[in-house]
Amino acid sequence: MKTIAVVPGSFDPVTLGHIDVIRRAAGIFDEVHVVVVHNPDKSALLPIAKRVSLIQQALADGGVGGSVLVTSWSMGLLVDYCEEVGAKVLVKGIRSQVDVAYETPMAIVNRNLAGVETIFLLPDPAHAHVSSSLVRQVAALGGDITPYVPAAVAAFLESAV
Ligand code: PNS
Repeated sequence: MKTIAVVPGSFDPVTLGHIDVIRRAAGIFDEVHVVVVHNPDKSALLPIAKRVSLIQQALADGGVGGSVLVTSWSMGLLVDYCEEVGAKVLVKGIRSQVDVAYETPMAIVNRNLAGVETIFLLPDPAHAHVSSSLVRQVAALGGDITPYVPAAVAAFLESAV
């Protein structure tokens, strides 16, 4: 049976750390769905559709394979998406103990809600300090974000912000 994993997140914007995790997930599972979800706890920089297109561009530029689909979900719980497509696994990147503390309650709630398990992957330590919120801040203040994001994201933010 085909194994489908969902890599969810705000991706506002997608970073090199995210791309690293998506690439690793694509090497493990038959199909990977990258799902952009609005997080009401965070103030958004980019519209959801732009986040989706930037991820698609970054994956294409990075040579991340054809078994990766990028979409968005705004119809309820993330596990509803998982049920709709038959995914039993969520994949999250873990950079530090802070991420473990943030992700653990969500993982347990998603398992309790629908039996969807969460697998944590460790990104390359080179990306351990990279976050979307840091990128948003550096970009807003005119700093260089090219070490942290795919080229498509850097080009877009440099022209838009
Ligand atoms: O990149 P983020 O902001 O840390 O991603 C968090 C996200 C979007 C994955 C999380 O907020 C989420 O799963 N939202 C969907 C709503 C949901 O299902 N909530 C209940 C389980 S956590």
